[in-house]
Amino acid sequence: MTTPDYAEKIPNNIALGEDRRLQRALESWQPNFLDWWETMGPTLPTQDVYLRTAVNVGREGWAHFAHVPMRDYRWGIFLADKNPDRRIGFGAHKGEPAWQQVPGEYRADLQRLIVIQGDTEPASVEQQRNLGATAPSLYDLRNLFQVNVEEGRHLWAMVYLLHAYFGREGREEAEELLHRNSGSQDAPRILGAFNEETPDWLSFFMFTYFTDRDGKYQLGTLKESAFDPLSRTCEFMLKEEAHHMMVGTTGVDRVVERTAQVMAENDTDDVAAHGVIPLPVIQKYLNFHYSVSLDLFGGETSTNVANYYTAGLKGRWLEERRKDDHTLTSDSIFVDALTDGEIGLTEVSALTGLNSDLRREYIADCEGGVKRWNKILSDAGLTHRLALPHIAFNRKVGAFAGIEATPAGENLSAADWQARKGQWLPTDVDKTFVRSLMRPVYDRGKIAAWLAPPRNGINGKPFDYDYVHL
Ligand SMILES: [Fe+2]
Ligand SMILES: [Fe+2]
Repeated sequence: MTTPDYAEKIPNNIALGEDRRLQRALESWQPNFLDWWETMGPTLPTQDVYLRTAVNVGREGWAHFAHVPMRDYRWGIFLADKNPDRRIGFGAHKGEPAWQQVPGEYRADLQRLIVIQGDTEPASVEQQRNLGATAPSLYDLRNLFQVNVEEGRHLWAMVYLLHAYFGREGREEAEELLHRNSGSQDAPRILGAFNEETPDWLSFFMFTYFTDRDGKYQLGTLKESAFDPLSRTCEFMLKEEAHHMMVGTTGVDRVVERTAQVMAENDTDDVAAHGVIPLPVIQKYLNFHYSVSLDLFGGETSTNVANYYTAGLKGRWLEERRKDDHTLTSDSIFVDALTDGEIGLTEVSALTGLNSDLRREYIADCEGGVKRWNKILSDAGLTHRLALPHIAFNRKVGAFAGIEATPAGENLSAADWQARKGQWLPTDVDKTFVRSLMRPVYDRGKIAAWLAPPRNGINGKPFDYDYVHL
């Protein structure tokens, strides 16, 4: 196990001290990052938080737990170990050695991919900045802050690549990553879902389940990249991302569990008066976060993505497990499409359909959440079930952006959609109700009435551990 090097301003496993130029560049970006964290990061003042810090990438070395003041968190640069024999796994360069430098012809595209990924990381910190004020328990508060500092580290990961491999343009992009802000009129974040508010903890759990999961799939495709430093960065980020998935999955579990418990105890569906979130409201939040997250995968067909794949910049989810030629030049795929106004499928070349391929992997993963939440309902003796809405529901990107559809996938006129969308998406009344439940619980071992306690604490600690000192 490697101990963290607190002598270094920026903890790292890239021998940063041996590259003075890069070290100076990153050290001059660091105060801007800290300014951003102070002004756009968590608003709740805290003394310290029981946080996991990445100190190295080895099996045990990377998870170091301690109470730390958040502004002293050691944001560092960590790449997964290098495999000197690594070869490109797909596309036109398949079988060639992975790149340690950026090929000139792919420079602009790689930079764009890194900027788009990098833009999402600080965005979610901005979206979640006020949630500390309404945390349902110290355990949840700690998890929120853990997600926040790790998204901050993911920003560092992308900024490292920009500084180390993309020269002056890369440094300018790194500055822009701090200037754009979620929901800003003048300089919004690049992707739509990252400009939506995360105003309450049900939204937070849905976001970490559905939207962070999009991040997992995007990172999975970049982990395959022929550009080895990007691949190694993303491989390590995926380990941290697993914690965000856990927060979302178990967060929704606990909302559903508590609601189911109150429904069963009182033999009623009408649980709002009992201070818990009714299942139809949970379903509406699910519908919203799932549908905006589907948009993050882009259009069903994309020549850009086809070119990225052929060039070796971005692979498929679990590329090495795919049983095909990994070039896809003569394959085809059926993708979702609108044909004469009807929701259906159309056959396209496998390369241009890669967004659809990734979105399907994501959807299959999301089904897993719905399954476990429905198991909680059936274990409570209830017949109610949650479901993912149809792929055409509430879409703003891709084939179904121009139509409206019900969660069951029936086409709707614009007027019908306006009249009925409040049945399927959170209304102002729903949001106000959910917000009315959001009162902070900062006492050790206590929890808000709308949420069940977790099965396990963090790092073997009990639920009533002092995870945060206010
Ligand atoms: Fe992230
Ligand atoms: Fe994340």
